[in-house]
Amino acid sequence: MYDLAALEASLTGTIYAGKLHFSVATGSTNSDALAAGRNGATHGSVYFADEQTAGRGRGDHRWESTAGQGLYVSVLLRPDVPTVRLPLLPLAVGLAAVDAIRSASGLNADLRWPNDLLIGDRKTGGILVESKTDSDRLSFAVAGIGINVHQGSFDVGLATPATSLDIEAGRLIGRQALLVALLESLEREATGLVEQDAHKRIPARVEHASTWIRGRHVEVHGPQACIGVTAGLDDRGFLLVKAGGGLIAVRTGGIREVKTG
Ligand code: BTN
Repeated sequence: MYDLAALEASLTGTIYAGKLHFSVATGSTNSDALAAGRNGATHGSVYFADEQTAGRGRGDHRWESTAGQGLYVSVLLRPDVPTVRLPLLPLAVGLAAVDAIRSASGLNADLRWPNDLLIGDRKTGGILVESKTDSDRLSFAVAGIGINVHQGSFDVGLATPATSLDIEAGRLIGRQALLVALLESLEREATGLVEQDAHKRIPARVEHASTWIRGRHVEVHGPQACIGVTAGLDDRGFLLVKAGGGLIAVRTGGIREVKTG
């Protein structure tokens, strides 16, 4: 279980100070943060839980959120950015998560565009960003992060096989240290998002951190379904895929490896 007093102390002086909201069990921390955002909760409010009974993934998937096993956290952000910057946010959250996993466990996670955290070819976490816009500005966004930490086994037959940090590291990884590292990295990324050159720097850093952005033979699912080879990110954060003799800028959806041979 989390030590809330120690957590508050670790986050003194950050945007999260005095804004931690912990539930032993809740439906979804993203739903909690969205409701709080609509009621005026401020930038840096954090909603996290030991268990989620209705954890949500992207595309209407469920996010398995057994008590005590994973990190389930949602952060309310109010960066002053135009809505065109919004697709960069999940990428920035992904960079923060990779950084936190490295500092808490020593493991190198890979980012599968746009929102999956993988170790090798197994999924260890996911990101669900939901937002509210006001004409052409972002009113607030909720960055929801789920990381498998202590799970020892997973259902077979998942679209992408899963793993946990404990399995990969071969030792117990502390959820509390992971949460602190994640929140610290996320504060840096949220600051970076409003900087002038964010549309250049974030895609460049994701290309560097991910093995999926160039030269991978992938199947794109979602509204722009196609099969092709990844060819970089554009400055909106869209994934470029060479397919059918052209170059497609994929706005949303997801990718899976096409196995050849
Ligand atoms: C995905 O891979 O589809 C994204 C999974 C996101 C899960 C996290 S857990 C904390 C937050 N609350 C939710 O209901 N979902 C996100």
